[in-house]
Amino acid sequence: MDKISSIRGMPDVFESDTNYLAELNKTLSKIFLSHNLNEVNTPILEQTELFIRSTGITSDIVNKEIYSFNDRNEQSLSLRPEGTAGVVRSVIQKKLDSVEHKLWYQGPMFRYERPQKGRFRQFNQAGVELLGFEEGPSDLEIISIVCDIFIELELEDSILKINHLGDKDTKEKFLSELLKYLKTYKGMLNDSDKEKLDKNPLRLLDSKDINLKDFLDKGPKIKDFLSSEQLNLLDKIQSIFGKYVEIELDSSLVRGLDYYTGLVFEAVSSNLGAQDSFLGGGRYDELSKDLGGKEMPAIGFAIGLERLNMIKKLKNAKSNKLISFVTTSSKMNALAFKIAQLLRSHNYDIRLETNFTNASLKAKLRKASKLGAKFVFIMGEEEFKSDTITVKSFDEDGYQVNMGYDEILDFYKDI
Ligand code: HAM
Repeated sequence: MDKISSIRGMPDVFESDTNYLAELNKTLSKIFLSHNLNEVNTPILEQTELFIRSTGITSDIVNKEIYSFNDRNEQSLSLRPEGTAGVVRSVIQKKLDSVEHKLWYQGPMFRYERPQKGRFRQFNQAGVELLGFEEGPSDLEIISIVCDIFIELELEDSILKINHLGDKDTKEKFLSELLKYLKTYKGMLNDSDKEKLDKNPLRLLDSKDINLKDFLDKGPKIKDFLSSEQLNLLDKIQSIFGKYVEIELDSSLVRGLDYYTGLVFEAVSSNLGAQDSFLGGGRYDELSKDLGGKEMPAIGFAIGLERLNMIKKLKNAKSNKLISFVTTSSKMNALAFKIAQLLRSHNYDIRLETNFTNASLKAKLRKASKLGAKFVFIMGEEEFKSDTITVKSFDEDGYQVNMGYDEILDFYKDI
C-alpha cells in the first residue's frame, strides 16, 4: 500500500525540537507572568470574515496564504493565520471591550506560504496583546517586554527595528505624497509591485527590488509627516531601551498586516538567513472598531517559536540531562523503583530512566552511553547490602563514587 506523508510545510516535530519548544514556552510564560499578563486561548478555526476585516482584504495573508474551507453548513471558515484578530474578536464578543486587558497566548498558526528554511505552513507563535491602552506608556511597556525577552534569552545577535506609521490622517497624507512621487516610476514596477501599488502602496516600502528601493530612498519619508509627539516616542524608546538592546530606526518598516497604525517593530537576527525576522508587532488602534467593537486602542506582538528556536537552541536546558538507573539483578528492582520515584519527585527537569532488563551490567552501561546519559546510577549486590548507590559519570573525567541515599538525593537535586 502507498504510504501517507504529511502536508508540505507542516513538519512533524520530534525529540530535541519538542524539548526546546517546551523550554522556550516555559521561559516565555514566566516572562509574561512577571509582566502581569494573563493567558488567553482562542480557537484555531474562525469565520473567514474575521481575517478579511482584520488583516485586510489586500494583505498577502488574505489574498494568498489563508487556509479556508466551507463547513457542512456552507459557512466559510479559516485556520487562523495569526492570533491578534481572534483575541480582539473574543474580547468584543464577551463585551469586555471597554476594559483594559493584558493578555498573552501561544499556539499553532497556519499560512500557505512557500516553505523554506524558517518558513512553514504550520508554525507556532507566542503573542502579547495590551488592549484598551492609549499610545505612549503602553508602547514603552510592550517594548520593555520585548527587551526582557532579548535579555532573558541572551539574543545578542539580534536587532529591534522600529518605525512609526502615524495615525490614520498622517498615513493618508503620506500615502497621497508617496503616490504622487511613484507616478513616474509606475511603468518600471514588476507585476507584484504593480499590484501592491493598486491595492496597498505602503507595502512597496519593504520591496526587495533594489532599483525601486533606491528610488524610494529619495522620495517622501513617513517621519517627515509625524507629529513631534510621535517622533518623541521613537526617541524615548531608543534612549530608554537602547542601553540594553540594539535598536534601529527603519523608515522602510511597514509590516504586512493592514491593521497597524502608530508604532511598528520587528526583531531580526543575523543567524536566520532570508527569513530573518523572528518577532513582529505594533499598534492597532482601529481594529476593535473595524470588528464591530468599541474604541479600544491596543498594541501587541508575536514571536515565531520555530525561528526563535533556530537562533536559540537551549542546548544547556536541564531537561536534556539523562540518567540511567541500572540494577544487576531483579531482586533490587522494587527498591530501585522506590528510590527513582523519590529522586524524580525532587527534580522533574531531569530524565531518569530505569533499566530493569536482564542484560549484563556491561551491556546496560553501553546502552546508557549510547543514549547520551550524563550519569549511570548502579545498584548491584554490594550497593544493595550497604544501602548505597554507585554513581558513574560519563563526562570526560569519568569518575565513580559510592553514595548513601541521603547523599544521592542532594546530588540529584543539584544536577
Ligand atoms: P507576523 O509578523 O505576521 O505578525 O508574525 C509574527 C512572527 O511569526 C514572525 O516574526 C515570524 O517569526 C513568525 N512567522 C510568521 N509567518 C511564519 C511562517 N510561515 N513560518 C514560521 N514562522 C512564521 C503577526 O502575526 C501579528 N499578529 C503580531 C502582532 C500581535 N501584532 C500585534 N499583535
